[in-house]
Amino acid sequence: MKMYYIIAGLAMATAPLAAQTPAYLDETRPIEERVEDALGRMTLEEKIGMIHAQSKFSSPGVARLGIPEIWTTDGPHGIRAEVRWDEWDQAGWTNDSCVAFPALTCLAATWDRNLSELYGRSLGEEARYRNKAVVLGPGVNIYRTPLNGRNFEYMGEDPYLAGQMVVPYVKGMQSVGVASCVKHFALNNHEVNRHNTNVIVDDRTLYEIYLPAFKAAVVDGGAWSIMGSYNLYRDRHCCHNEYTLNRILRDEWGFDGVVISDWGGTHNTDQAITGGLDLEFGTWTDGLSAGGRNAYDNYFLAAPYLEKIRKGEVGTEELDEKVRRVLTLAYRTVMDRTRPFGSKCSEAHYAAARKIGAEGIVLLKNEGGLLPMNVEEGTRILVVGENAVKMMTVGGGSSSLKVQREISPLEGIEERFGNIAEVSYERGYVGDVNGEYNGVTTGQDLRESRPAEQLIADAVAQAKDADYVIYVGGLNKSNHQDCENTDRRGLGLPYGQDAVIEALAAATDRLIVVNISGNAVAMPWIDEVPAVLQAWYIGSEAGHSIADVLSGDVNPSGKLPFTFPARLEDVPAHIFGDYTGVASSDTVDIEYKDGMNVGYRWTDRQKKTRPLFAFGHGLSYTEFEYGEPYLDSSVMTADGTVTVSVEVTNTGGRAGQEVVQMYIGDRKSSLPRPLKELKGFCKVSLAPGESKVVSFVIDREALSFFDPDRHEWVAEPGRFDVYLASASDDVRGKVSFELE
Ligand code: BGC
Repeated sequence: MKMYYIIAGLAMATAPLAAQTPAYLDETRPIEERVEDALGRMTLEEKIGMIHAQSKFSSPGVARLGIPEIWTTDGPHGIRAEVRWDEWDQAGWTNDSCVAFPALTCLAATWDRNLSELYGRSLGEEARYRNKAVVLGPGVNIYRTPLNGRNFEYMGEDPYLAGQMVVPYVKGMQSVGVASCVKHFALNNHEVNRHNTNVIVDDRTLYEIYLPAFKAAVVDGGAWSIMGSYNLYRDRHCCHNEYTLNRILRDEWGFDGVVISDWGGTHNTDQAITGGLDLEFGTWTDGLSAGGRNAYDNYFLAAPYLEKIRKGEVGTEELDEKVRRVLTLAYRTVMDRTRPFGSKCSEAHYAAARKIGAEGIVLLKNEGGLLPMNVEEGTRILVVGENAVKMMTVGGGSSSLKVQREISPLEGIEERFGNIAEVSYERGYVGDVNGEYNGVTTGQDLRESRPAEQLIADAVAQAKDADYVIYVGGLNKSNHQDCENTDRRGLGLPYGQDAVIEALAAATDRLIVVNISGNAVAMPWIDEVPAVLQAWYIGSEAGHSIADVLSGDVNPSGKLPFTFPARLEDVPAHIFGDYTGVASSDTVDIEYKDGMNVGYRWTDRQKKTRPLFAFGHGLSYTEFEYGEPYLDSSVMTADGTVTVSVEVTNTGGRAGQEVVQMYIGDRKSSLPRPLKELKGFCKVSLAPGESKVVSFVIDREALSFFDPDRHEWVAEPGRFDVYLASASDDVRGKVSFELE
């Protein structure tokens, strides 16, 4: 009998316990229900706590309820090393090194959506392993001027290309339970005065050029978070900008994620309450009063907000909305117990980085078939240039990394050819010997005592006897180069590199220039140099990817994601004089008078000035021939589609990949339009002699322009031209159809 009662008692105790699992922890319930339940249990103070940072990179959860903290990390090329709780200095961990993936310009140059998915997923796995819920990236600000110090973190000049490439990145990353924080929304197209540039841009340009990649990330990619930019638009900072965040992002695009401020991008409590911001980070207060012991309490969305609520000056409706969104983010990431554990520095991640790197390298020029290299026993290879040895993963601002390993171009070349060839190295020039960012040091000693003339003379002396001279130069991640918070001061190569290249070109006709940069550079010596590769910042596997292409192990297939102008004076942002590189403490209006004339949309119309290399340009070690394009119908009905097809044949002797580009031009429209715009692309792999038919389905959206008066996208009936091209300046075929 006694026994019976004990068992019954136990049974009675467990049954109510199970039934009591609070709804917010019940994984069988939909997220919306769990969010409401959690919200209902939180105190006002806990809610306020949740919408601002508690350290440089984290926001608190609700400890009492078991809702975890949310940790963010840069982004966008690798997982940043741990900093101290409240400082940018290194935390000194020994297990926080990462794989550096190629910079986003390189990813964009692959024109390969699958590689973008691989990139996002691999980086997400690294983030997940390090317990980061949000990666601060990718960036999709449009390449408006080659002076922008942050272009290397973005995906080029074309809204369609950037939009197509950002979506798989976001999806890949989020598939492993890590949120992408797409940045910097919006109109952050240069760095000088980034906190006080007020952009003035017409609606048409805004919607057609500067917004589509963000929209794609949100609508097609389903991004769980987005970062407001530092600059202003319509006189409001973009981290709490009613127009961009509430009206466009939420109302027009239906964004259901979290708006995160850029670090120090919040300026005002009232605007932060109503202007669409959810989560405040990096305010280097004075928020309202001095930083004091716990600066985070003085954030605009901390004590000042609480006080306003307590005094009855504002209600709690906006607060609850913000908390709902942050809770949703938590359920999607840290509270999703089904997400994988992630992995870090795996061979798979290195392999992904190497593949993306090699496929993003662009063969700009290859006269006389100098490339791929033909290396035999005893071939003499001379490598010249600081960028052949300088570690490029450290520097450049917030995307700076602490890597587990980084293969330099020289190491990659030595590894690939060193067993049969003689590989030697000459410095050529001295750039920046510094190798430190926020306490992460490269450990390299790049000091050099020889004067510039001597360095050139020494390189030239060796170049004369070399079978191949590989010059590896370009920009680096120092201030005023490819670096956050500063812009470049000109289009030219720094550190007297033109003189080195010219001297080498005079000494040998077997010169290969490998330009490492995230930006276009001037090449006054281009006619003297037979082969040029655009090699970006490739990260951990840089040297391997470069050697893969030099050797021909990988046939180059990258295409430029932005125009290389011959001169800065050919760039509309500079022609129309609305870029100022002068730092100012006052708000500066920058009017995008260049309008939609960004990149090829401008160069396409120029008769006299041609770009050095056009958007979409990129050569291969094989040749591709295009057949006559054809349509399935010469008329598109109002709600129909037409399909354009073209046969592409590899007529050369090597397997290779071609990026077939499809541009559309509107013959006549009520508003002026660019001659043609990219509306489709497809990377196709072809064995020698092989042909494949590539098809693109064209819908109404591809024919539309944004009508600012009607505030909607419009496709006007009439004739449209479809261009099948190997580059924006290399059209291989054209067909046209009528939209009814
Ligand atoms: C940058 C962001 C970055 C953040 C955190 C800011 O200065 O603009 O892109 O994610 O710092 O490091």
